[in-house]
Amino acid sequence: MPYYHSNVDSDEVMFYCGGDYEARKGSGIGQGSISLHPGGHAHGPQPGAVERSIGAEFFDELAVMVDTFRPLELGEGGVASEDPGYAWTWSGRGPGRS
Ligand SMILES: [Fe+2]
Repeated sequence: MPYYHSNVDSDEVMFYCGGDYEARKGSGIGQGSISLHPGGHAHGPQPGAVERSIGAEFFDELAVMVDTFRPLELGEGGVASEDPGYAWTWSGRGPGRS
């Protein structure tokens, strides 16, 4: 289970390509989702995920992560597909609510 962190020197892109990504369960992240955590943006497991992982020996999940050397610029497709509630999913407000 990842811990809370900020990628100070890079942007972080994750593509959730298999299984059921336990750390972000309840955030709206599912297979086929892509997340972008801009450099300096603190992020980590969904509230309660660490507690649920205690004692677990295996998670069926697969994601590909890219940390960039330079800041990303979003194209029209990236901007248009943003879930405006995503940044609030760590607040306990749930996905899709901005
Ligand atoms: Fe990260």
